[in-house]
Amino acid sequence: MALAQLAYAAEKAVGHGKNAITAQDVSEYSSLGVEDTMLALVWMGKNKVEMTRVAKPRILEDRDVILKVTGSTVCGSDLHLLHGAIVQMSKGDILGHEFCGVVDSVGSRVKNVKIGKRYVASFQIACGDCFYCDKKISSQCERTNSNTTERAMYGGRTAGMFGYSHLTGGFAGGQAEYVRVPYGDVNLLELPDDVPDEKGLYLSDVLATSYHAVQDTGVYENDNVAIFGAGPIGHMAGVFAMQAGAQQIVFVDTEPRLSYIRDHFAPEYRDKVSFLDFKQLSSGITSSETVVSQLKKLFDGRGPDVAIECAAGEYAKGWAHWLELAVGAETDTSEIINEMVEAVRSYGRCGITGIYAGYTNHFNVGSLMQRGVRLIGNGQAPVHKYWQGLLAALQNNEIDPLQMISHRVRLEDLDQVYYKFEARQDAMHKVFVETRFSFPAAEGSPPLTRYTE
Ligand SMILES: NC(=O)c1ccc[n+]([C@@H]2O[C@H](COP(=O)([O-])OP(=O)(O)OC[C@H]3O[C@@H](n4cnc5c(N)ncnc54)[C@H](O)[C@@H]3O)[C@@H](O)[C@H]2O)c1
Ligand SMILES: [Zn+2]
Ligand SMILES: [Zn+2]
Repeated sequence: MALAQLAYAAEKAVGHGKNAITAQDVSEYSSLGVEDTMLALVWMGKNKVEMTRVAKPRILEDRDVILKVTGSTVCGSDLHLLHGAIVQMSKGDILGHEFCGVVDSVGSRVKNVKIGKRYVASFQIACGDCFYCDKKISSQCERTNSNTTERAMYGGRTAGMFGYSHLTGGFAGGQAEYVRVPYGDVNLLELPDDVPDEKGLYLSDVLATSYHAVQDTGVYENDNVAIFGAGPIGHMAGVFAMQAGAQQIVFVDTEPRLSYIRDHFAPEYRDKVSFLDFKQLSSGITSSETVVSQLKKLFDGRGPDVAIECAAGEYAKGWAHWLELAVGAETDTSEIINEMVEAVRSYGRCGITGIYAGYTNHFNVGSLMQRGVRLIGNGQAPVHKYWQGLLAALQNNEIDPLQMISHRVRLEDLDQVYYKFEARQDAMHKVFVETRFSFPAAEGSPPLTRYTE
C-alpha cells in the first residue's frame, strides 16, 4: 500500500474529531444510492488518474447544492495529489477543486441559490459562521474538516476542500459532470451575465490565491519582487504585484513557463518583467552564479524587497534533498525557501503560497534571524475574503484571466491532460475544461484541443 493510502488507513484507525457539521469522506457518491452515472476523473494511485463513470451525487444534507459542471480545470495543487505528496488519498476519490456550473438541485435550507442560475465554487468548504469564517478567513473554517492527522501534524486544521484528499475532509471534487457543494449558499458565488465561465471559474482559486499572496506578503509602491514559480499562480501574482505598485518583477522558473509569461503577461506591464532560468544556474554553496547571486546583481547588490513562493516543496533541485525526500527524511525541500530568504534585502519579506506538506531539513534559520527577514506562510488562500472584489474587477476589465489560459480541453480527455500538464508538454499553462453542459466558448478563449477521438 502506498504512503498516501497507508496514512488514510491510520486516520481511520484513530478516528475523526467531532467538530465537523457536514459529512466527512464523501469523496465519491457510490453510497448515496443513486443509480444514474456520470463521467468523472478519479485518483487511482501514485501517478495514476483515470476517466471513469461513477455514481451521480444527490442532496445529502439540507444545505447541499448539486451543481451541473460547465467549467473545470487542473491546478498545480492537483499534481501534488498525483505525485502522492499529499497523503490520505483513497482509490476512486473524485478530484478537482476549481469549478463552476449551473444549479441542478438545492437542499431545503439553502437560501439565495437558485436552480438554473450560474455559480462558481470556492475551493474550500466553509460553514460561514465560525470564528474564522466570521473574519472571512474561510480557508481555516473550524467546522468542515475533522481530520485528526492534520490537526496533530499542523497544530490546527484547514477547512474542508473539494477533491483534495481525506486530510481535508474527503470531499468529492468538480472534475466531473456533477458535484455536491456542502453549505452551497456559503460556498457558491453567482456569476453575472457579463462574466463568462472562462473568466469566472478562476475566482474559485487562482485569482483569490495569487491576490492573497501579494496582499498577505505585502507588496508596496516601488517594491522589487521576485516570484519563484511561473505557473498560473505566479503569473497572476505578478499581475497583482504590478497593480499594487511594484517597480520590477523577476520570475524565477524554467522553460516553457518563462517563455509563456514573456509572451502572455499583461501587455501594460511587460517592460517591467525579467526572467531567471534556475536550470541554467548553480545551487547551494558555490562560487558559480546562482539564483541568489543573480537576484542580488539585479537589485543593487541587496536583492529584491519581496519574494513570493508559487512553486511547491516537493521539487528538489540538488541530490541531497532529492535523496532525503525519496527516503522520507523530509517531506519538503528547503531549497526555494532558502533562496528567497538569502536573496531578499535585509528586513525583506518572503511569502509561501506554494504547497508544503510537512517538514524540511537544512533551513537557513541563521540568514532569517541575522538579516531580519520576514517569512510568511500565506496559508491556503481564504477565497471568501476576496471573491466579491475580484468579481467586480473582472466586470470592470481590471484583470484578464484569459492571459493564463493556454488550452481548452474536454472532460473526456482529462486524464491525458493531467500527464501533459505534469510534463509541461505543449506549453500547457492553465486549462479550461469543458463538459457536455458547457456554454459556447467565450470570445478570446483558446480553441478546443482534443487528445482522444
Ligand atoms: N496556498 C493556496 O491557497 C494555493 C492555491 C492554489 C495553488 N497553490 C500552490 O501554488 C503553487 C503554484 O500553483 P500553480 O498552479 O501555478 O502550479 P504549477 O505546477 O503550474 O507551477 C509551479 C511552477 O513552479 C516551478 N518550479 C519548480 N521548482 C522550482 C524552483 N526550484 N524554482 C523556481 N520555480 C520552480 C515549476 O517549473 C512550475 O512552473 C503550487 O504548489 C500549488 O499547489 C496554493
Ligand atoms: Zn487550485
Ligand atoms: Zn466556518
